[in-house]
Amino acid sequence: MERQFKVFRYDPESSKKPYFQTYTVDVQKSWTILDALNAIKWEQDGSLSYRRSCRHGICGSCAMKINGKNELACELQVFTLKGVIKVEPLPGFEVLRDLVTDMDRFFGHIEAVKPWLIAGLSPTDKERLQSPEDRKKLDGLYECILCGACTSSCPSYWSNDDFLGPAALLKAARYCFDTRDEGFHERMDVLNSRNGLWRCHTIFNCVEACPKDLNPTEAIVRLRARLAAEKI
Ligand code: SF4
Ligand code: F3S
Ligand code: FES
Repeated sequence: MERQFKVFRYDPESSKKPYFQTYTVDVQKSWTILDALNAIKWEQDGSLSYRRSCRHGICGSCAMKINGKNELACELQVFTLKGVIKVEPLPGFEVLRDLVTDMDRFFGHIEAVKPWLIAGLSPTDKERLQSPEDRKKLDGLYECILCGACTSSCPSYWSNDDFLGPAALLKAARYCFDTRDEGFHERMDVLNSRNGLWRCHTIFNCVEACPKDLNPTEAIVRLRARLAAEKI
């Protein structure tokens, strides 16, 4: 079946302003948006640029705005959308070329929350075991694939890209609520700063945008509650 795709194009090396280019693709029933982009690139226009790797919703590299919503191109099936399909880069990030955005700041914010277990003052040369019950407490926190769809949809981030954003705050929660971690106070320097937890205005766009059905807002609220409980 033939479908039309209106794809955002931008070449920083040309004097042309960004524009939309329409492609007609003969799609198969099972195709995802990524399959259609691959068909465009491989059969019609090799200059089209976008990120992808795993094709299975795991690597997080193919997040883009499709028909006005942040989605993973490799998970969204073409047949679920009607009419001409509009494909744009993730909003809120600088566009480097076509559908490729600059993710340096995004990953810088992830790094800022120290996304690793901090042993604190009780180092041990033994393995730090965790009970199944304590491991379960991380459900909904650990599954993030760092696609950026949530941060890209956050109005607080649009107005201030120094804001850590929902993905970094969810990542912080994943470690702060790990029973083996002792880094809560160490992370508070950045989480309790003016561009940390308090920049979130509970707008919930991030929850709606997450292709993994995670809830960064809830994680932010839990971190704030712990901060208040520990009187930091
Ligand atoms: Fe992507 Fe969801 Fe992780 Fe945000 S929380 S980066 S939307 S997987
Ligand atoms: Fe942004 Fe999500 Fe908070 S959209 S303002 S981080 S609830
Ligand atoms: Fe890896 Fe889509 S290509 S998540």
